Formats: sequence, structure tokens, C-alpha cells
Amino acid sequence: MARITLRQLLDHAAEHGYGVPAFNINNMEQVLAIMAAAEEVDAPVILQASRGARSYAGDVMLEKMVEAAEAMHPTIPICLHQDHGNDEATCFSAIQHGFTSVMMDGSLMADAKTPASYDYNVDITRRVTAMAHQLGVSVEGELGVLGSLETGQGEAEDDHGAEGVLSHDELLTDPDQAVEFVRATKVDALTIAMGTSHGAYKFSRKPDGEILAMHVVKAINERLPGVHLVMHGSSSVPEALQERFNRFGGEMPKTWGVPVEEIQLGIRHGVRKVNIDTDCRLAMAAEIRRIASEKPGEFDPRKFLQPSMDELKKLCRERYEQFGTAGQAATIKVVSLADMAKRYRSGALDPAIAVSRAA
Ligand code: G3H
Ligand code: 13P
Ligand code: ZN
Repeated sequence: MARITLRQLLDHAAEHGYGVPAFNINNMEQVLAIMAAAEEVDAPVILQASRGARSYAGDVMLEKMVEAAEAMHPTIPICLHQDHGNDEATCFSAIQHGFTSVMMDGSLMADAKTPASYDYNVDITRRVTAMAHQLGVSVEGELGVLGSLETGQGEAEDDHGAEGVLSHDELLTDPDQAVEFVRATKVDALTIAMGTSHGAYKFSRKPDGEILAMHVVKAINERLPGVHLVMHGSSSVPEALQERFNRFGGEMPKTWGVPVEEIQLGIRHGVRKVNIDTDCRLAMAAEIRRIASEKPGEFDPRKFLQPSMDELKKLCRERYEQFGTAGQAATIKVVSLADMAKRYRSGALDPAIAVSRAA
């Protein structure tokens, strides 16, 4: 099965009413586990690599791991996506390494810390989209800054995230501006800010509408029904995983993530791509802790990694089933990058069509 673009996959997801989890990858074990889960339930896959992942594993290693995954799972379409591209160079070099989709995150400046102006965001996103579409590659943009509505802060634990305290205006995507942004940039998918943030510490209590603004998703979907929405920071940080992590020596203060039922609500309102990294990290780390604690004499890395892959596979399988991705792979006929490029040139994929239909 050829590598699929984000645009083709999300068009299929919209047509059939499902969402696709986008799992972050950094190493072979994550790729093997995510793919094994997808194979078990016949789900199409989005593998995404952050800038951190690219410097950790190296572009050649990432590219070859995804090629290996394709060879091992010939019936599963795989989209390889750049997570949070910070500038044009990051997006271009990803495309050179086989990525079929890039996120140009112009909500922040290239330092990935300073909130950017709307004009900067439109300008850089539009330039990346114009280049990527010529090659058939998809582009995800972001409008609004990810961060907590409780604290006004972006995430603290990764390198990527707004610094300082942000206002609710910055932390919630404006639906009217979203229409303007999509029309101006021609992005294939739009990340919106609605109170989610990266990492484990998203909410200090089970989130309600005050701190997880699902009404913003609905409002944007009403104005842009044909546009694919993306939820970042969508780990659920399950209580069972927190307990397991802490039972074996971990120190994670009680925290809440995004409940799966809220993501399912989002999927009913145009969310098609759901970014998940923290849950995958936690599933593996909790299991590694368990082995280390129960078998203090163990020193074969495989004895830590195989069970942690099994835990990750379980988590991924659950999300494929919960988001309706399961069972969809066989129904997709992958369109080549060259044919996607032709479709962009013909204007058939211009989101302005969806925007004007909505107006
Ligand atoms: O964008 C956030 C993801 O969780 C990636 O994190 O930059 O540590 O790889 P990372
Ligand atoms: P989590 O930290 O909630 O897993 O979010 C990951 C993400 O949004 C990557 O872009
Ligand atoms: Zn993100």
C-alpha cells in the first residue's frame, strides 16, 4: 500500500464519519506497536514525528522505519506527518524525507515559544501550503495558541509551547477568523485551540465546558463544515495508567486529560485528526517501571520493551476502535502524490469551495 496523504485520509474520514488518532513516533518499538494495533483492527495510520523525534532518531532512520512498516503491513495506508513544523525549512526537509503531510505551526514564531501575529501565521502557512501542494503533500495549520484555560499557560514539559501567560482570546480560536484563515492559507486541516495543551498536566479536575471548550469546536464546524479539524493535546491520561505508573515508583501528581467521550463528541463535529503522544509515553513508561520494580535482576532491554510494546498496542487499538478508525483501511484506495498534485492544480481540493458552501 502506498503512503497516503493526510488530505486523502481525512477526506475519507469525513465521508465515513470517523476520526484518526495521530500517534507520535520516535523509535522502532513505537512504530511496531502502533502498526500491530492497526493491523489487528484494519485501521489506517497517521505516524507523526516532532522536531525532537527527528533529531532523536534521525531522518534516515525514521524514513526507513516507515518503509519497513509499509513492507510489513501492505494493506494499511500510512500517512507520515511532521508534527509542529516551526518554519519552512523544517517542512521542506520533512517532505524530502518521505513525509506526505506537514504541520506548519505558525501560531508561534520559529522559536516555538513566542505567540505570533495573525498576519505572520497566514503568511508563512500560505507559503508552505503553496509549495507542498505542488508536490501533492498536505498541510495542517494552527490558529489560536494551545494552552490551559485554567492557568493561561502552554505546556512546560516539551520544548514546543507558548511561554508566559496567555489571555482567553489567544487560547480560543475565533470562528470567524478561522474562516478567513482557511480561505487565505488553503490548509487541508486546521488545528484549533480550545483549552487542550500538551503533556500529562492538562486539567486540575475532570474537564467541563469552562476549561475544555468543546463549544468552540462546534462553532467552527458550523462555519466550516467541509474543513477537517485537528485536536492537539488529546491524550486522556487514563487514571489506570497514572496509578500503574505511581504503583511502581513513579511520581505523577493526580491529573486529568481529555476524556475519550469529549473526543468522540469532537469527531461528531468535524474533528478528524486527534494527536496523542503522552498516553503512548505513559503506557510504555508504566510498564518499564513495573518490570524494573518486579524483576530487579533483569537487564535485557527486550524484556522491558516487549511488554511495553504490548501495552502501547493495547492503547492504540482502543483508540482506533473508539474513534471509528477500525475497519476503514480496506476501504481506502490510495491516491499517489502526483495525482494529489494534479487535483490541487485543478482547484478541486481548494478549501475555499468548502468555505463558500458554508457561507
Ligand atoms: O508536540 C508535542 C509532542 O508531544 C511531541 O513532543 O517534542 O517531546 O517529541 P516532543
Ligand atoms: P498529548 O501530549 O496530549 O499526547 O498531545 C500530543 C500532541 O498534541 C502532539 O502534537
Ligand atoms: Zn501538538
